Amino acid sequence: KREKSVAIVIARPQDLGYDLGPLKPTTVKTRPIEGQKPGTSGLRKKTKRFMESNYLENFVQSTFNAIKARGTNIVEGTLLIGGDGRYFNKEAIQTIIKMAVANGVKRIWVGQDGLMSTPAISATIRERGPIWQQAFGAFILTASHNPGGPDEDFGIKYNCENGGPAPDILTNTIYENTTKIYKYFICPEFPSIDLSECGPTNVKSTDGMKQVCVEVISSTENHVTLLKSIFDFDAIRGLLDRNDFSMVYDAMHGVNGPYAKKVFVDELGQPESVCMNCVPKDDFNGAHADPNLTYAKELVELMGLDRKGAKIDTGAKVVQSFGAAADGDGDRNMILGTRFFVSPSDSLAVIASYAHVIPFFRSQGGLKGVARSMPTSGAVDLVAKDLGFDVFETPTGWKYFGNLMDSKAIFQGKDYTPFICGEESFGTGSDHVREKDGLWAVLAWLSILAYENSKVESSSKSLLSILAFDSSNKSSNSLVTVEDIVKGHWAKYGRNYYCRWDFEGVEKAGAEKMMDKMRESATANTGKEIGQYRIAKADDFSYKDPVDGTVAKKQGIRFLMEDGSRIIFRLSGTAGSGATVRMYIEQYEKEKIDMIASEALDGLVKVALELSAIKTYIGTDEPTVIT
Ligand code: G6P
Ligand code: ZN
Repeated sequence: KREKSVAIVIARPQDLGYDLGPLKPTTVKTRPIEGQKPGTSGLRKKTKRFMESNYLENFVQSTFNAIKARGTNIVEGTLLIGGDGRYFNKEAIQTIIKMAVANGVKRIWVGQDGLMSTPAISATIRERGPIWQQAFGAFILTASHNPGGPDEDFGIKYNCENGGPAPDILTNTIYENTTKIYKYFICPEFPSIDLSECGPTNVKSTDGMKQVCVEVISSTENHVTLLKSIFDFDAIRGLLDRNDFSMVYDAMHGVNGPYAKKVFVDELGQPESVCMNCVPKDDFNGAHADPNLTYAKELVELMGLDRKGAKIDTGAKVVQSFGAAADGDGDRNMILGTRFFVSPSDSLAVIASYAHVIPFFRSQGGLKGVARSMPTSGAVDLVAKDLGFDVFETPTGWKYFGNLMDSKAIFQGKDYTPFICGEESFGTGSDHVREKDGLWAVLAWLSILAYENSKVESSSKSLLSILAFDSSNKSSNSLVTVEDIVKGHWAKYGRNYYCRWDFEGVEKAGAEKMMDKMRESATANTGKEIGQYRIAKADDFSYKDPVDGTVAKKQGIRFLMEDGSRIIFRLSGTAGSGATVRMYIEQYEKEKIDMIASEALDGLVKVALELSAIKTYIGTDEPTVIT
């Protein structure tokens, strides 16, 4: 690796007596800026807000103050910085570097071109470098699936030494610090780092006594190496090379493009055409880089579906066997088969039931624990019950899973790893990192398909006969599809019909009033009959973290029906501006597994709209997105 030369800044007259030169910190006066409370996943605001003077700086300094108070030794290890490439990413990185140096950080790693996906950050914190160099934490510059660009959203979050998002305890301190910040530190003369090429830049103080190293590192290396150690790439390649199998991966112009190319083209030998929208753009090409049926429009059509997940006629055009998409920062995934949508909750359940086909789990004696966020359907619970795993129900937000994965000491030596977890919001992952991992989920699905298809080839006892659903039209060597696998799953476990309605950009006051009203009347609603349902219990979900004991309250209003159906309302914690109401609907059917989801859920949706009186509070009962 090449060492870049750096001009030494001659000390200014006012610096005489100090020989720090480019490493000389300056104290800048500031004042608290309101509204810097991190949400479900970091601080997200309009990009322009972030570009206002001191906005980013206040948050970054508040974070340094919080991690120092927590005992993080920032002088010894490494600070990692990377982002999803959205507008303002590179400028923010240069500012954070200068502030990190002023705060005493001596070694910084930055993803090439400023890019690093959220799961790759987590992997890099956990995997990179000898022990004395390992990252103590990372700043991730992302607003995830929110649109990017000068008029859209920007975001920042801090991840800790375990590779996971800062826990509530830390984000609360960061927030408190933002309310009483009056100064921050920065080295204005520290040179801007060229992020386009990998390699270290050593910056020395004028007297040569101190040195800081900023190293631009490969964005993909650590993560892809980790993925290769988890999955059987030869088996996956066997599937991808079949003549009757085809796939396409849509990175939606987010950060995952380079990762997809590395995995599918370089490692698995597939043509470039497998990778769609794989050049990262700072505005995600003007689109909404969120992998769902509404926003991944191009892919969805290619897979023969409409935005409601219904099959469409594609004429003579052959539909791919497998399609997947990612969000802006690469931690989300959507899985599609030929004219078939896999709901994230079902995807989680299927992956958990097939964990044994993935070397990472097999080599550790099999899966030991699963978790889902509260609004995620209970499909995975049925798998856990059947196969004997422990199952946890946590509030929305990946940070709650991280604690469970690191729980070994807490649960009297009972270890919940290896562990799989997921959310209805298109997030799935395991304890290989402490974030959800879009590519991991895709490789998990390809592993399952590879396994089933090699079984069909090698034995007459196919999945189809094992799972006892109609296999009469399958010849023994035709492809086992995504749809076959999901339908096989439903045949075995029953189906958790599920949908989420989002009401985006609504007025905050009205939305909050609606939630308050439901919260107040929760107890009174218990036992009430409505439509064909009787409410067995209504409450506001709260969670006591079994690991650190913190209690998260007001995590969603739940109406739990006597027949097991659920209606849940939450306010999103990731909305950049205004409020987003989320309404989650779930109904379990043991036998009737072939209905159209929207039709199966129609009755329960009406009950939900009535219980919430949503139209009265936010002026509409028409959702902006249905997933
Ligand atoms: C991010 C978080 C997830 C969460 C999702 C939706 O992706 O990492 O854990 O499920 O946002 O959160 P929200 O609060 O908007 O429903
Ligand atoms: Zn994301």
